[in-house]
Amino acid sequence: MYDDNMTNCDDLPAVEVKDHAVRAEKEPPAEISVEAKKKILFVASEASPFIATGGLAEVIGSLSEAISENASFDVRVILPLYQDIRKEFRKDYRYIGNLNVALSWRNQYCGIFEYRAGNVTYYFVDNEYYFKRPSCYGYYDDGERFAFFCRAVMEILGFVGFYPDILHCHDWQSALAAVYLKTVYQSRPEYRAIRAVFTIHNIEYQGQYSLDILEDLFGIPFRFSNLLEYDRCINLMKGAIECAEALTTVSPTYAEEIKRPFYGKGLDPIILRNEGKLHGILNGIDNKLYDPATDPALFANYSADDVAGKAVCKAELQKMFGLPIKPEAPVIAMISRLVSHKGLDLVKDVIEQVLKQDVQFILLGTGDSTYENYFTDLARRYPGKVVTVISFNADLSRKIYAGADLFLMPSKSEPCGLSQMIASRYGAVALVRETGGLKDSITPYGADGNGFTFREYNASDMLYVINEALGVYRKKDEWAKLVKKAMETDFSWSTSAKYYEGLYLKLLEK
Ligand code: GLC
Repeated sequence: MYDDNMTNCDDLPAVEVKDHAVRAEKEPPAEISVEAKKKILFVASEASPFIATGGLAEVIGSLSEAISENASFDVRVILPLYQDIRKEFRKDYRYIGNLNVALSWRNQYCGIFEYRAGNVTYYFVDNEYYFKRPSCYGYYDDGERFAFFCRAVMEILGFVGFYPDILHCHDWQSALAAVYLKTVYQSRPEYRAIRAVFTIHNIEYQGQYSLDILEDLFGIPFRFSNLLEYDRCINLMKGAIECAEALTTVSPTYAEEIKRPFYGKGLDPIILRNEGKLHGILNGIDNKLYDPATDPALFANYSADDVAGKAVCKAELQKMFGLPIKPEAPVIAMISRLVSHKGLDLVKDVIEQVLKQDVQFILLGTGDSTYENYFTDLARRYPGKVVTVISFNADLSRKIYAGADLFLMPSKSEPCGLSQMIASRYGAVALVRETGGLKDSITPYGADGNGFTFREYNASDMLYVINEALGVYRKKDEWAKLVKKAMETDFSWSTSAKYYEGLYLKLLEK
């Protein structure tokens, strides 16, 4: 019997979206080609492979590349030049010049570097006072740092002579670029035709500041305060939602969810008011980067047609972690930030019941100390069965995706999530809660599913599905079919990139 006091969240409504496993709301547009190249500028606070703290970086890196493969688009990306940017790229940066950027009464130095990655041009905004610090975020003056960045973006357009057709901003750190464009810069003719798109990767982080810094720090005249003011604060994400001509988020289900109070994190009324311009477009992953057939991090390579190498990866992973080398024991893995919305309370509630069976559990991640301590202690109590690695390690994560049989991702909310897609591609069958992009990318075992899903945020429901998955695992042929199905699911960017391209062109018709 399961305990009564298992985590059960009644205020967590499951949201209906018409189709299961939809990539966006409508049929994908046909291949797009236009006569004059359309100029797209991504404004973001991180991008792979230069600097990454999470999924946002991967999306910026791979979506910009995917769109740039269409010759109709000239795609450029602008980022802050952080101290932590990977050194191997820095040496090839080309210095373009410098200018002064006025942020209210401050006048700041701004250097510009350029780097060409395939078809995509990257610009890096240099200011050592703001960006020569370890790590990207977490400073008392983050508001000012990213306001400077956004203001610099506006000025750099003129400096490099690249006025985009579309200014595509991502998350709160770049929100002010859309706001500056539609307020302070509207009087300048070169800026008037630029259309702004704002993408919400995670509505939890909104960029909230006290009202009194609007003019003094952000340099936005008080007459525009209604755009940014919300709940007696300046809310940068709200400002971009109001100012952008189009609003997107990273899965169709999340687009529905953020209209509700639980998921909207206070912004749901603003989303609802702007729902006419909201589009949910499911992220993809970079299939070249995440390919078990070529990934050099793996102990052995394999593909959906020849999975032999996966057994090697599993055995080597078990060996590396000092686990008994047992092909018959399913390896359940989690690779996650250790924070509450990743559903870790559900795992805590039932993991010991799961561990009564012949399974192995591997967890990789960093985050809140309560979870770090809990899972470290769990590994101590279950030697030979549980491994906890408190770290963020790309190489190790790939070895785990390749060696695992089942990948657990029971998030309370998940705008899109990339790990479930990477896991599937590496043949670690995903078991997810039906929320956000998890619902749109993983379909339940049975008819034609590529993984396992449960609906309510409830530990006993999750346990039930874990047991179902372990049952299927024991039926070798069934499991092999499911692994192949998961590996063959198309998570590439090709379809989603077309939605963005279609959206850009539609905006430019107006
Ligand atoms: C954020 C979201 C995650 C999404 C990623 C990329 O990190 O939390 O769900 O996959 O952005 O859009």
